[in-house]
Amino acid sequence: MSRPLLNPRLAGLGTTIFAEMSELAVATGSVNLGQGYPDTDGPQEIARAAADAIMQGRGNQYPPGAGIGELRRAIADHQRRYYAVDIDPDTEVLVTAGATEAIAAALLALVGPGDEVIAFEPYYDSYAACIAMAGGVRVPVTLRAPAFRPDLDALAAAVTDRTRLILLNTPHNPTGSVFTRAELTAIADLACRHDLLVISDEVYEHMVFTGEHVPIATLPGMRGRTVSISSAAKTFSFTGWKIGWVTGTAELVTAVRAVKQFLTFVSGGPFQYAIAEALALPDEYFRSIAADLRVKRDLMCAGLADAGFEVYPPEGTYFIMTDVRAFGEVSGLEFARRLPHAVGVVAIPSEVFYDDRDAGRFGVRFAFCKRKEVLTEALARLGRLRAP
Ligand SMILES: Cc1ncc(COP(=O)(O)O)c(C=O)c1O
Repeated sequence: MSRPLLNPRLAGLGTTIFAEMSELAVATGSVNLGQGYPDTDGPQEIARAAADAIMQGRGNQYPPGAGIGELRRAIADHQRRYYAVDIDPDTEVLVTAGATEAIAAALLALVGPGDEVIAFEPYYDSYAACIAMAGGVRVPVTLRAPAFRPDLDALAAAVTDRTRLILLNTPHNPTGSVFTRAELTAIADLACRHDLLVISDEVYEHMVFTGEHVPIATLPGMRGRTVSISSAAKTFSFTGWKIGWVTGTAELVTAVRAVKQFLTFVSGGPFQYAIAEALALPDEYFRSIAADLRVKRDLMCAGLADAGFEVYPPEGTYFIMTDVRAFGEVSGLEFARRLPHAVGVVAIPSEVFYDDRDAGRFGVRFAFCKRKEVLTEALARLGRLRAP
């Protein structure tokens, strides 16, 4: 066949590095700090609630297109409890197959061919692919080490008369930056001035160590132009359940739902019941997420620095970016490929998160959503990097 099989819009976008690194981890018996999923499950009572729902015949058939009422109400209650916003669970909430589907459906709904989408790189890998599927043009604005702050002048300069929306992610994967209220206010002002939409990916909303998580939709002028996205995957450590959600005005949610309907229609019926219960857990649960991760972050930051890495301590999420030049390395990619063989640890090279590969050339990312003894073992192994 002379014509390439893959839709040319997606050419070059499928990164295989996560699969490559996971395979290397298995082949070398490495501690895998590559992909960002926890090695322990979420609360037992929530797992039990999902099992009960299945056995009691709740959610085993197609649930309602927008998600079950219990979950939509729980999402609205959560937004009120943590951000003091009032959302109508009947018209302003949509349950999705993880945040991943929410991002895809929102971009496909709101972006047309030739529309420009500004996103801060490094970015989560589905962003580039979904913008491309929508026929949009991605316009990266680079977060640079050591602080990885949004460059507001660069952002303003990136806006053109073809700009349709800004795709935000705070707390930010992979840098761990938590955008401040002042930064978000500046971004919101820009969006209002140029009449732009915003898609705001907030899946790490409960994993903040420094500062606070501010949903941009709560800032003046933003409610009517923001699609907010979150997910149960990170907050409740059930990444395999793929329960995510969108909140926004009825108009925006209806647009996203029009696409979601033809992607999955619905998903995860019994899990929706369980996540409705999870969202109603007491404040103590939500506080414990960041408190537990903070201990791991501190352990990893200190251990990685001792092992010789330049470390950029994250303000949120469960990722740490590092620089490997102190090891005499000129390529994070080569370093990451060698690391499993050298000492038995897997990490992800930062450059795969960038369009501007040079900006991420010297970095590797470690995930620390693992048991403490796993992190300690990884650090002991990494300590051998500097051994004579
Ligand atoms: C920034 C970001 N958005 C979205 C997702 C996907 O979330 P879900 O598993 O709910 O699809 C991830 C998962 O790694 C992520 O890091």
